[in-house]
Amino acid sequence: MATYLVTGANRGIGCEYCKQIKDGGDEVIAVCRQSSPELDQLGVRVETGIDITDDKSVADLTQRLQGKTLDVLINNAGIVERVSLNNLDFESIRKQFEINAVGTLRITKALLPFLKEGSKIAIMTSRMGSIDDNTSGGSYGYRMSKVAVSMAGKSLSLDLKPKGIAVGILHPGLVSTRMTNFSGISTAEAVQGLLQRIDELNLDNTGTFWHSKGEVLPW
Ligand SMILES: NC(=O)c1ccc[n+]([C@@H]2O[C@H](COP(=O)([O-])OP(=O)(O)OC[C@H]3O[C@@H](n4cnc5c(N)ncnc54)[C@H](OP(=O)(O)O)[C@@H]3O)[C@@H](O)[C@H]2O)c1
Repeated sequence: MATYLVTGANRGIGCEYCKQIKDGGDEVIAVCRQSSPELDQLGVRVETGIDITDDKSVADLTQRLQGKTLDVLINNAGIVERVSLNNLDFESIRKQFEINAVGTLRITKALLPFLKEGSKIAIMTSRMGSIDDNTSGGSYGYRMSKVAVSMAGKSLSLDLKPKGIAVGILHPGLVSTRMTNFSGISTAEAVQGLLQRIDELNLDNTGTFWHSKGEVLPW
């Protein structure tokens, strides 16, 4: 039985990850700021009070995990706020960086001691963070923070390859969650594809940017 840790686990894609991993017979540690009825009903281990922007709360998580080995770390927590050129809100841009990019790197670094040779890290980025694919502009904070987290993922893939840890940089598709005002494909369909990508992730393809459907995306 493999152990998966999922951040942003209380709703949306994160909660669906927990459901499908549990249904597949593996162990889930669901990490969130606060739980939800949807997550509680899954009957998985839930670790609450963890904000990925906060050093102390991430350190607290590492205390709670003592003795555990993680086979897969899924960095799913993230936010989107609309920031257009006509309404450049630098505070919002900073906040999106802090959560989507810096927060993801903070918790990944803190959890490295729990990973072993053969473990995997998945980073939920977005196609909105593809420079080549940007044909519509706007969304300054979200796009910039997702480019940054994709770059962190690429560096992690190179730095962790000698330790036998593979890193996948994943776009789920447009998925019906609170983030998208519930437009797009179901979380069930997205997570089915995402878990396939994680299954296929290895040291030869580490550092690749994939759509959940399997297409390699341009940087
Ligand atoms: N939905 C899409 O179409 C789409 C497309 C591309 C990429 N993505 C990415 O997929 C991931 C999941 O998105 P989603 O659609 O499931 O969004 P969602 O329903 O809005 O869920 C976001 C999750 O992130 C958590 N989170 C936010 N800030 C946090 C913080 N500071 N510390 C810890 N957790 C925090 C939220 O927890 P709280 O409930 O405590 O706020 C929530 O669990 C995100 O990284 C997103 O950028 C989504």
